[in-house]
Amino acid sequence: MKVTVKIGCFAFLLITLFVCQLFAQSENPYGTNTPVVADSLTPPVRLTARQDHARLMKLLNIDSLRQGPSGNPNALNAANSDESKANPYPGLPDPLRLNNGRKVTTPEMWWKLRRPEIEEDFDGEIYGRVPKNLPSVHWEVISTTKDTIKNIPAITKKLLGHVDNSSYSLLSVDIHFSLTVPANAQGPVPVMMEFGFTFPPGFKMTDTMKKFVDSMSNWQPMVLSKGWGFAILIPTSVQEDNGAGLTKGIIGLVNKGQPRKLDDWGTLRAWAWGASRALDYLQTDSSVDGKKVGIEGLSRYGKAALVTMAYDQRFAIGFIGSSGEGGAKLLRRNFGEQVENIASSYEYHWMCGNFLKYAGPLVPGDLPVDAHELIAMCAPRPVFISCGSPAVEGNWVDDKGQFMAAVAAGPVYRLLGKKDLGTTEMPPVGTALIDGDIAFRQHHGGHTTLPNWPTFIKFAERYFRD
Ligand code: GCU
Repeated sequence: MKVTVKIGCFAFLLITLFVCQLFAQSENPYGTNTPVVADSLTPPVRLTARQDHARLMKLLNIDSLRQGPSGNPNALNAANSDESKANPYPGLPDPLRLNNGRKVTTPEMWWKLRRPEIEEDFDGEIYGRVPKNLPSVHWEVISTTKDTIKNIPAITKKLLGHVDNSSYSLLSVDIHFSLTVPANAQGPVPVMMEFGFTFPPGFKMTDTMKKFVDSMSNWQPMVLSKGWGFAILIPTSVQEDNGAGLTKGIIGLVNKGQPRKLDDWGTLRAWAWGASRALDYLQTDSSVDGKKVGIEGLSRYGKAALVTMAYDQRFAIGFIGSSGEGGAKLLRRNFGEQVENIASSYEYHWMCGNFLKYAGPLVPGDLPVDAHELIAMCAPRPVFISCGSPAVEGNWVDDKGQFMAAVAAGPVYRLLGKKDLGTTEMPPVGTALIDGDIAFRQHHGGHTTLPNWPTFIKFAERYFRD
């Protein structure tokens, strides 16, 4: 009898465990075996970028993705740089036509109907949705120092933005940020915020690299000498720049260490969220004119700068440096970097999971929106699209694709009473198109914004003047 009871209990336990396991798996929208309804202090899931990428593909029922081309022009699978093959999907989505086919003819229709449609498509298919009820950030001034930068007296505050992690204390996020203003300013000053590059401790640089990196800050005295300030946000303190980090940082904190759903935000939106929180701080700092804060970034941070500018309408101006694919460049273009590269396990974390579809069963021509509409989301605020010379920078960032997107955003600027680029023809390298509210210039250098700072400052002056 006793034996029968014991066996019965054991069987019951096994069945219960089995049912629980089934329940956990079927209810789990993340495609992992970690129960969602687990204790809030379940440790963060650890996946490599490749594992997480494969997990997203499984959720999308995709077996394989097309491979992107190589950035090496001598490789067998080099990215296309032949303009005659660059526009396989010449028809762009019309930023001024509603999904139901009606033409958008008034600013009111843009704000109330069309812009929300465009935003919804970027949220659901490209950059992902920022969760509601994000934790608050408490800004702490760590130090204040007086210094001179190229003989200009300046005051620098170093800050940490502590993100409230009371909902999931196993992860913490502290945003690294600094603000520098001219010491002799008579009142609140305009500020340019940059997404700053950092190198891991101990990172070994060659002399040439060191020189280049040192020169990257040469724009700062230019800004100070105009009487403006500058601020540096370290994006990787908000969210790591890789897929393995997606269960950490702000994205991981909000998901309580679980992997992303298909339309959850990607790293670009997380970085942009960090910039918005830094702007919250700047708007409380009496040395800053909170209505005149711009955002700048290069390359992946150029993409982040454009996303920031598009989504947070408090940013007054954007300086978008060599942002290429996933930034100001038309995703439909077959020139330089491709959707397939961004959808790969090296870069997919910038976007939401749904974006992978466009490198699998779907093609870039199926994307509901394209980069010109991201630029249009910045309207009517001024935006400067910057790139280098293809002869120095190469073709990866596709200058022409960025120019075309800037042109195609024009109708929205015009509808809102602003000026477009002023031409539909790409000018020679070095030409500054800065008379309208969308600006464009290819400088003579490489993968940097530095040579375009003087032109950008001239453009920004119009808006930062009292
Ligand atoms: C790679 C990537 C680009 C990115 C760049 C960068 O080249 O393919 O999309 O902009 O890195 O950030 O430096």
